[in-house]
Amino acid sequence: MKRTRIKDILQNPEIGYAVNVKGWVRSFRNNQFIALNDGSCLGNLQIVITLDSVDESLLKNITAGASMNIEGIVVASMGKGQAVEVKADKVEVIGTCDPEKFPLQLKNKPSLEYLREIAHLRFRTNTFSAVFRVRHALSFAIHKFFNDRGFVYLHTPVITASDAEGAGETFRVTTLPFDNPPRTESGDIDYKEDFFGRSTNLTVSGQLEAELGAMAFSEVYTFGPTFRAENSNTARHLAEFWMIEPEVAFNDLTANMDLAEDFIRYIIDYAVTNNKEDLEFLEQRLTEEEKQKPQAERSEMGLLEKLQFVLDNKFERITYTEAIQILIDSPAYKKKKFKYDVSWGIDMQSEHERYLVEKHFKKPVIVTDYPKDIKAFYMRQNDDGKTVAAMDILAPGIGEIVGGSQREERLDNLVTRMEQMHIPVEEMYWYLDTRRFGTVPHAGFGLGFERIVQFVTGMTNIRDVIPFPRTPKNAEF
Ligand code: 4AD
Ligand code: MG
Repeated sequence: MKRTRIKDILQNPEIGYAVNVKGWVRSFRNNQFIALNDGSCLGNLQIVITLDSVDESLLKNITAGASMNIEGIVVASMGKGQAVEVKADKVEVIGTCDPEKFPLQLKNKPSLEYLREIAHLRFRTNTFSAVFRVRHALSFAIHKFFNDRGFVYLHTPVITASDAEGAGETFRVTTLPFDNPPRTESGDIDYKEDFFGRSTNLTVSGQLEAELGAMAFSEVYTFGPTFRAENSNTARHLAEFWMIEPEVAFNDLTANMDLAEDFIRYIIDYAVTNNKEDLEFLEQRLTEEEKQKPQAERSEMGLLEKLQFVLDNKFERITYTEAIQILIDSPAYKKKKFKYDVSWGIDMQSEHERYLVEKHFKKPVIVTDYPKDIKAFYMRQNDDGKTVAAMDILAPGIGEIVGGSQREERLDNLVTRMEQMHIPVEEMYWYLDTRRFGTVPHAGFGLGFERIVQFVTGMTNIRDVIPFPRTPKNAEF
């Protein structure tokens, strides 16, 4: 008999049908009712067993966490909480689960922190199964959005010899022995002897390679893992995270912002439409979590209301210069509530970004035209000589979710900027070639995937939206 997914039974119940279901026990009550879950949806299927369908010696093996194979008939349920249940004819325990040792018992609700320590099992909780189904839906929606618009999905390398952002936060990739590496005559490590014949690292961004693709396909995107050795132990930083980076020839900064807004709305809409049950559950979870906080720190909107608000309202667009002025004029600044000072030229701290988004505008904000000295070398220089055509999107509760810009397409300007910022011009000949051979204005951005998953699921810690988080001092599993 072919296995039926529990989701299909719960969504389109056909009373009287014989089914085979397999899954894991969530709970077992009164020696009679099994709540079975196979991960196809949030809900459990109730299995009703009778002592004539089950050998008594089997009962002790039906415990939370055990895996089961059930054959039976779909019947209307008498109990509340479910429309249908399965009356079992054949009951088999596939794999037992010692209730003394299994850490996920319904009785004691484990904390998110504890579940992080048992990340290999946490998919089996309602919260994490909902989060990772939503994460899946968002990834699918991302590919669908770009595919429907004719973008080419470009796989950019994971191992590179460049530091795209120039921030020096790379993980080195080497096969040299670290206790006694080969040395040059001057005593430096001799990377000519290394696997690739040069010094290499894990990519921090696929952007530079995506730009090369955009110069042929017009519109491309990357979606892959990126790595940053920044020692930030925050609820928004990972050492390994996934990033989506579209790059479009002939786009200017305005078109870039329009694309980013359309894109974000599209994928949120997809999740809201397709993952309603999961999001309703996550909304409840968040409301519970927020009850622990003082009233003033709780969100004004529920999760779904917040998502609907983003779908219905255009993002605010302001320049960096305007943003700084708003901060300086704010009551928070006047009452010295900010920990970090505000003046033109600062790299805004998260307290500043949150003030703009959560207190002042109360919606996502796109900040444009940042000072050139706090942004990467490749951003297009504005005529004022001080700013670049950058854009960051800031979201309530998260802060920066997108960083992007129009790119500097003028060879001379780009080379001068690279020299000023000590970017090795000669090594980057391949990047500069695009400016030599048919250069065009172009623009792109990077969306931090885990940050949008956080936004959509309402999970407060980024470690809870990626299956196996990599953070400073932690690479378990
Ligand atoms: O602003 P970033 O550094 O921009 C770039 O990497 C550009 N090359 C993108 C482009 O224009 N193609 O990073 C982009 C986004 C951030 O806005 C943030 O959402 C996310 O990536 N991000 C991180 N997410 C989790 N953990 C980290 N350590 C992150 N660093 C950046
Ligand atoms: Mg950024």
